[in-house]
Amino acid sequence: MRKDNLERSGAKKIAILGAGNIGTAIARGLAASGRWSPRDIILTRRRAELLEPLRKENFAVSSDNRAAVESAALVIIAVGPRQTEELLREIRPLLNGGHTLISIVTGVSTAQLSEWAGKKVKVVRAMSNTAIAIGSAMTCLCASPESAVALEEAKTIFDALGHTLVISEELMLSATALAGCGIAFFLRAIRAASQGGTQIGFHSEEALLMAAQTAKGAAELLLRAQSHPESEIDKVTTPRGCTIEGLNEMEHNGFSSALIKGIVTSNEKASRLFKKDE
Ligand SMILES: NC(=O)c1ccc[n+]([C@@H]2O[C@H](COP(=O)([O-])OP(=O)(O)OC[C@H]3O[C@@H](n4cnc5c(N)ncnc54)[C@H](OP(=O)(O)O)[C@@H]3O)[C@@H](O)[C@H]2O)c1
Repeated sequence: MRKDNLERSGAKKIAILGAGNIGTAIARGLAASGRWSPRDIILTRRRAELLEPLRKENFAVSSDNRAAVESAALVIIAVGPRQTEELLREIRPLLNGGHTLISIVTGVSTAQLSEWAGKKVKVVRAMSNTAIAIGSAMTCLCASPESAVALEEAKTIFDALGHTLVISEELMLSATALAGCGIAFFLRAIRAASQGGTQIGFHSEEALLMAAQTAKGAAELLLRAQSHPESEIDKVTTPRGCTIEGLNEMEHNGFSSALIKGIVTSNEKASRLFKKDE
């Protein structure tokens, strides 16, 4: 979108401070949505030279957090939990009531963010995943009642980048495990299925395509047709058939249990990420 169009649409300049894995994924998703030009998205990290590929994609890149905040109305914080206090204290003098702060940082509460950033700044917490780069993220959002308008603003942005759900703040760590980490769990499941496919005769690229498209189809049945997983499974499991035999073999080996335990473990670890002794 050209700058004049951008201004007409009311879209604001966005600074993404801490442009690592999730920060750059958000930047690419925003640009791919067509609502923001890469030129209106400023990305920072201390080693800004590592953002060269993003600069070539026309994003503004810098190591200067303060200048980025000065030129943007929307500031996305995407550093690690233990880097957040220092970063917010650094930009605090530049933040004013016109700024909206969206933090994607795991485990740092809105109260803590407001304390570091200054009370006048509207603060929203988001938890998303790397599929945001292609507009297919699951993003959970929360904010304190005083930031209700900013929450709506954040929802409008993330709605353009996948699905959103507004949740209570006490569930943000659970959202980290299920949506943030969850994408890795499903990717590993697809990879494992493709390895099974190779063992039974497909070249690895064919097996990966078949596994990924089958996983996508399963997800679409739930999302688009609003089905329940078990009713869809019942349609596939012919009595004495090969699906139920394979599925039961997986369950005997702890398939559902492994996923549940993995998500619970990630949730427990997420709750300790911000503690100094971990
Ligand atoms: N990865 C995910 O899928 C995901 C999903 C949801 C939420 N999160 C959360 O998002 C945060 C970032 O995760 P990540 O995986 O993207 O980590 P990451 O790849 O390590 O990115 C963090 C970035 O912050 C930069 N940084 C650190 N201190 C900075 C400062 N003072 N000013 C500017 N930039 C600074 C680092 O680069 P330099 O060292 O060059 O400064 C690094 O590129 C974490 O809190 C994580 O829990 C991640």
